[in-house]
Amino acid sequence: MIRVAVVGTGGIAGVCHLPALRAQAHRAEVVAVADVDRARAAVFAREHGIPSFHGSVAELLDQARPDVVHLCTPPGGHAVQAIECLKSGAWVWIEKPACRSLAEWDAITAAEGPGYASVVSQHRFGSGARHLREIAPLLGRPVAALCVTAWFRDHDYFQVPWRGRFRTEGGGPTVGHAIHQMDVMLSVLGDWTEVSAMTATLDRDVEYEDVAMATVRFASGALASVATSLLSRREESYLRFDFTGASVELRHLYGYRNEDWTATTDLWQPPDDVPSSHEAQLSVLLDAYEKNERPPMSARQGRQALELATGIYASAHRRRPVTRAELTPDDPFYHRLDGGAWTS
Ligand SMILES: NC(=O)c1ccc[n+]([C@@H]2O[C@H](COP(=O)([O-])OP(=O)(O)OC[C@H]3O[C@@H](n4cnc5c(N)ncnc54)[C@H](O)[C@@H]3O)[C@@H](O)[C@H]2O)c1
Repeated sequence: MIRVAVVGTGGIAGVCHLPALRAQAHRAEVVAVADVDRARAAVFAREHGIPSFHGSVAELLDQARPDVVHLCTPPGGHAVQAIECLKSGAWVWIEKPACRSLAEWDAITAAEGPGYASVVSQHRFGSGARHLREIAPLLGRPVAALCVTAWFRDHDYFQVPWRGRFRTEGGGPTVGHAIHQMDVMLSVLGDWTEVSAMTATLDRDVEYEDVAMATVRFASGALASVATSLLSRREESYLRFDFTGASVELRHLYGYRNEDWTATTDLWQPPDDVPSSHEAQLSVLLDAYEKNERPPMSARQGRQALELATGIYASAHRRRPVTRAELTPDDPFYHRLDGGAWTS
């Protein structure tokens, strides 16, 4: 059995990670949990029948010796905690956003071996997205795409202490919410070369944007429009891919099935119906663990959407297009998504 531990026993751990792990009970067992709030970890362990709980990552790694750690803590701590897990030899599956900057991601990746670090990006793994990636080469050239995250988060949502600030949350909806849609888009369209963006803080008391609009040019020549809002009363996640031979669209909110996709081609025949869920990605991650192979959403793949988010923040700040090539360690946005202006 693969020995799994969960760090951070808040919302996402209970709602998504434990159900996904239960579906893998034939090959994975949850041996321990940890939370800085030790009492919360204790309640979580009792509720889910987990044998041990701990008050810190170090204590958990030392005493439970897990093979795989699910990191479900707020983003501000992800890099340090992920590196701690990797140094113990464990694999780590990090909730999105993986960390606060490309610098942190590159540090995480550099700490790999023998374990790997992979980012949660569950919408890459539903059968619809997988099928689209398979048939995309048969649909002609990609020419246009729309990537819309029209979500609503009320004022109370931002009262959680780690939300609302670059330092603790990493960034705004570009990196925290739209990253799901951007990652699916990038998984289909590949490398981007240039982005031009505007962001605004219009109705929430936060340090970052609550609305962002961007235009992206891909290496293939295709153009995409990325629209992100946390102020949209009618919520929707929408992706549209126009190839020279077909249009493919996906409309859903927080998770899709095959029925949420439409396409103008007979080639659209997804063979099964795997919902986009933590379970879908965990299954692939554990396959990789069993084969001791690099998992999906690690290294370069895990970096893709964070890189586009970095370009969006840099372009909005500089009021000019930003190329992917300029996001090197010499660029302040490589180190922090606010370009160096953390105020709290
Ligand atoms: N993939 C998705 O669809 C999805 C959805 C929601 C949230 N998330 C992500 O999941 C992560 C957690 O979000 P949440 O909503 O569960 O947050 P939460 O605040 O409900 O839970 C976080 C937990 O981590 C604990 N914690 C904080 N610092 C810690 C530390 N140093 N060591 C151990 N425990 C610590 C907190 O006490 C809390 O119990 C975030 O990165 C968030 O963006 C992902």
